Amino acid sequence: MKIIAIANRKGGCGKTTTAINLAACLGKKEQRVLLLDLDPQGHSSLGFGVFNEHARDLYDVFTGEVKLEEIILPGVFTGVDVVPATMTLAAAEHLPVRSDERDRQLEIHLAPIRHRYDYMVIDCPPSMGLLCFNALVVADLVLIPIEMSLFGLHGIDQMYQTIGQLRERYRRDIPIRVLPTLVDSRTRLCRQFLHEVGERFADDVLPVMVQFTVRLKEAVRQGMPIVAYDPTSTVAVQYGRLADVLMSTLSESPKTENVGHTETRLTTMRRAFEEAQPRSGRHGGLQKVVLRFYDFAGKKVQLAGSFNDWTPDQGVITRIEDGMVEKIVVLMPGNYQYRIIVDGAWQEDPSNPDQMSNFSGGYNSILHVEAEHETASV
Ligand SMILES: Nc1ncnc2c1ncn2[C@@H]1O[C@H](COP(=O)(O)OP(=O)(O)OP(=O)(O)O)[C@@H](O)[C@H]1O
Ligand SMILES: [Mg+2]
Repeated sequence: MKIIAIANRKGGCGKTTTAINLAACLGKKEQRVLLLDLDPQGHSSLGFGVFNEHARDLYDVFTGEVKLEEIILPGVFTGVDVVPATMTLAAAEHLPVRSDERDRQLEIHLAPIRHRYDYMVIDCPPSMGLLCFNALVVADLVLIPIEMSLFGLHGIDQMYQTIGQLRERYRRDIPIRVLPTLVDSRTRLCRQFLHEVGERFADDVLPVMVQFTVRLKEAVRQGMPIVAYDPTSTVAVQYGRLADVLMSTLSESPKTENVGHTETRLTTMRRAFEEAQPRSGRHGGLQKVVLRFYDFAGKKVQLAGSFNDWTPDQGVITRIEDGMVEKIVVLMPGNYQYRIIVDGAWQEDPSNPDQMSNFSGGYNSILHVEAEHETASV
């Protein structure tokens, strides 16, 4: 069993959302997965619609009342079992234990069930307490989601330091991977953050990012992972890619941390950087705007909006590459509404959370064109 601990002291950066959706994607890929909720808020079980405030959790396991296998909720999703958490778990931080076993309780209790699963995904709480330490000690890989907003990088250096100390104390490698989350690459600030994250964490940054979308919140409200709620959405594809990348990273032996992989990571980050860079060659106040669509391979995609009198593709340049469709328009800075037409059917841009309702009961997507930047869509 390979163990992925999802940790970041910063609250609200997408740890739980990533834990739920990564577990579900691994399950869909025919892996046997155990999702371990280490956060007393219990949001991971909520995300699969199985939250029960009276459930037994790791607290009861750590006190010796039950065995870990007795509290597993089986089959909450294809291939996925869950170890739930409740408020009681908060008390586990203060249980009296032998000091040499404090950080290794989880490891000890996991031993009898390791053979049953291919992957365990751990949703850590937003603090570096005992529970989080137990997860880091047992992890084969620590996944740090970083929210692409003003305080997104806060506390990351300290996490790196802590993991470094654990590496030394337990004499083993604990690889770290950074996942940019809540990405809205239309905003200049977000593009600057992507750039900074790429520079600071270099090869640790994954070649995948998770965009900001209301679909994820809707899915949690329905108690479903996004692969079940909206399997064709961009974000479902992104979480699927995350599962693929982590599976291949974890199947490599540490020494073969291979060139191909690093290359892919760098290429992807370079693309993100390019999107984050201001472009030269502007014409007066006009800006070149590029909208990219990744999920409509083989389909005809057109663009219509307030900038071209809602006439599909009028004044729009189309480029198609490896199944990705690029729509290029030249516009003055300002706000515009638009929709896309996929094989003749009008719809909002699924990768753009910024939208408003229109007269026909649907939604128009909003495009903000800034004075000095190219605007791009993930
Ligand atoms: N990519 C995304 N797009 C839009 N909303 C998101 C995205 N990822 C997470 N969210 C929302 O942001 C909020 C915080 O996400 P989440 O609970 O996954 O963070 P967390 O790191 O687990 O928080 P905590 O530290 O409190 O445990 C939730 O309401 C979630 O639905
Ligand atoms: Mg959480």
